[in-house]
Amino acid sequence: MENLEIITITPSSPEYAEVFGLRDEILRKPLGMSLKNDDLSRDHTDIILVGKHNGSVIVCLMLHHLDDTQMQLRQMAVHSQWQGKGAGKQLVQAAEKLAADRGYKTMVLHARKTALGFYAAMNYGTSGSEFEEVGIPHYIMLKDL
Ligand SMILES: CC(C)(COP(=O)(O)OP(=O)(O)OC[C@H]1O[C@@H](n2cnc3c(N)ncnc32)[C@H](O)[C@@H]1OP(=O)(O)O)[C@@H](O)C(=O)NCCC(=O)NCCS
Repeated sequence: MENLEIITITPSSPEYAEVFGLRDEILRKPLGMSLKNDDLSRDHTDIILVGKHNGSVIVCLMLHHLDDTQMQLRQMAVHSQWQGKGAGKQLVQAAEKLAADRGYKTMVLHARKTALGFYAAMNYGTSGSEFEEVGIPHYIMLKDL
């Protein structure tokens, strides 16, 4: 999609409240959960990457340092009105470039079973068997950067 402004933010940034709301709305409320009950300590150490369209945050993800070679992509969420328009793909591609530029060799993530096709379309491959997280099936997926 055009006009997606991609920036990194921190919990002190004005965009953080929007990112919190987006994660809660897209990743927690549909499961009957609240982001307020999550351990949010990693929000202060992870890289928070967001895409803004016409001044509003419509997509976000977080990058967590696992070790010197592996970065974990987590909390991937696209605003419901903007899903299926390429915003998720653009933000993942920006995250891959950011991680590669910092010397990471592999992107790792816990994909919801419902999102396997999204990551597969970007050449992520599954590793190991299905497991449960936040009460729903997931797979580990990996991509060499
Ligand atoms: C899954 C999600 C992140 C995808 O982002 P998006 O912006 O809607 O997806 P895009 O428009 O960038 O799609 C990129 C490609 O993946 C495909 N795709 C997107 N979502 C898909 C899905 N759930 N299953 C299979 N393929 C999917 C698209 O068809 C597109 O294919 P193309 O490049 O051949 O045209 C987004 O829909 C979302 O936030 N969903 C709800 C929360 C969620 O599941 N988050 C991920 C948790 S692991």
